[in-house]
Amino acid sequence: MDVTQIILDDHRDQRRLFAMIEQIDPADTTSLAALWRRLSALLDAHAEAEERFFYPALLKVGRGANDAPSPQEETEDAIEDHNEIRDAAAEVDKHEVGSDAWFEALGRANKANGDHMAEEERQGLTDFRRHASLEQRHSLGVRLAAFVADHLHGVRPVNKDPERYIESGGDVAAAAETS
Ligand SMILES: [Fe+2]
Ligand SMILES: [Fe+2]
Repeated sequence: MDVTQIILDDHRDQRRLFAMIEQIDPADTTSLAALWRRLSALLDAHAEAEERFFYPALLKVGRGANDAPSPQEETEDAIEDHNEIRDAAAEVDKHEVGSDAWFEALGRANKANGDHMAEEERQGLTDFRRHASLEQRHSLGVRLAAFVADHLHGVRPVNKDPERYIESGGDVAAAAETS
């Protein structure tokens, strides 16, 4: 197994679910709600798993990649983006499923997530492939996959303070925002 591949596979699933939702009749609110529940749960569980397992390891072994000068920069961007995605997903839930406002909020969540995935793939994942051992890529892959599998219904979304997250070496409890 390889944590960088498992993250890419989760990203593909997220893109796939956004693409499926786009093709459903707005009147079919049962199908829309079901697929959005699955996507929203995956977004939350995936971000939390990255914060618990991938970014703490990247902070230790990374050296920067492409347009990111350091693993701290990669991590700060990622934590900020994860907060933005959690907030955008919460906005979707404020609207009636299938309404114009719901689809518009969904589009904003898709953009926040799409921009984040592109950056994460180009920065953190590239950095980790270059500098982590195959053994570490395997063991973190197992932990990330198990966490996501164990949280099919998602996790309680908790935003993290990027500075406290980096200072603590990637401690999600220490960085959790209380409000
Ligand atoms: Fe990701
Ligand atoms: Fe991420």
